[in-house]
Amino acid sequence: MRMSFNNILVKKNNKIATVIINRPKKLNALNKETIEELHFAFEELQSDESIRAIILTGSGDKAFVAGADISEFADFDISQGKDLAAKGQKYLFDYIENLNTPVIAAINGFALGGGLELAMASHFRVASDNAKMGLPEVSLGLIPGYGGTQRLPQLVGKGKAMEMIMTAGMITAEDAKESGLVNHVVSQEELLPLCERLAKKIGYNSSNAISAAIKAINASYTAGVKGFEVEVEQFGNCFGTEDFNEGTTAFLDKRKPSFK
Ligand code: COA
Repeated sequence: MRMSFNNILVKKNNKIATVIINRPKKLNALNKETIEELHFAFEELQSDESIRAIILTGSGDKAFVAGADISEFADFDISQGKDLAAKGQKYLFDYIENLNTPVIAAINGFALGGGLELAMASHFRVASDNAKMGLPEVSLGLIPGYGGTQRLPQLVGKGKAMEMIMTAGMITAEDAKESGLVNHVVSQEELLPLCERLAKKIGYNSSNAISAAIKAINASYTAGVKGFEVEVEQFGNCFGTEDFNEGTTAFLDKRKPSFK
């Protein structure tokens, strides 16, 4: 297992992993190396059976992630631009969305551009009350390229997404909660403790069943895939698992299940 990275920190405690993007001087902007390191970290954490949930956050008290690193693509041409978006989506954003292990984004400050896209690729989001969120790409002559034009309307609705993307503005954590972009808003001190409590609660449940639920829910948002059919398939597969045996036996025995 690769333990050391230049741009991220990975901590493990009580079956919960916390991945911290650690470029605070650049407001944790996502450069190429950070994206690669995040991919490796998530790949390793997914294969670690002791880890039940992953919390993703930014270092410092100012930013979750202030976007893709603008200095890296300022001189790109059309084909490099397409390549940047395609590789980033495949390697990190779609990868996180389809991870078997749940990922909670703990948005501790600015989540802009690629930063908000990273939070939206996570399975759900919790924000601190100082957080500001937006997709400012049109102010740079760009559009969101890491899934933002697809995931923002899924979360907040088409009209709100249009407004946020067209105005390039930032919304507050409270606005984000009202729009369905984040599930909870708490003080900065409470942010990680709340995410840890949610992760712990997830960890009591069957990880097999949770990964099946992720597949079924995501299927509903994937063009050309029939979500109800994926649900039937995933539901059926659960019946062949040890977790199903344990969960139903524990219920009938009137005890708490103990999933492996
Ligand atoms: N890419 C590269 N560097 C970034 C960055 C990004 N997306 N966001 C912030 N930084 C860097 C700044 O260049 C600055 O570096 P420097 O100290 O070497 O000059 C450092 O992070 C601190 O940012 P700064 O702009 O000085 O902080 P601020 O508090 O005045 O403003 C923001 C904070 C978030 C409003 C501002 O940094 C910003 O608008 N960032 C870009 C957001 C964006 O457009 N993201 C989408 C990218 S596709």
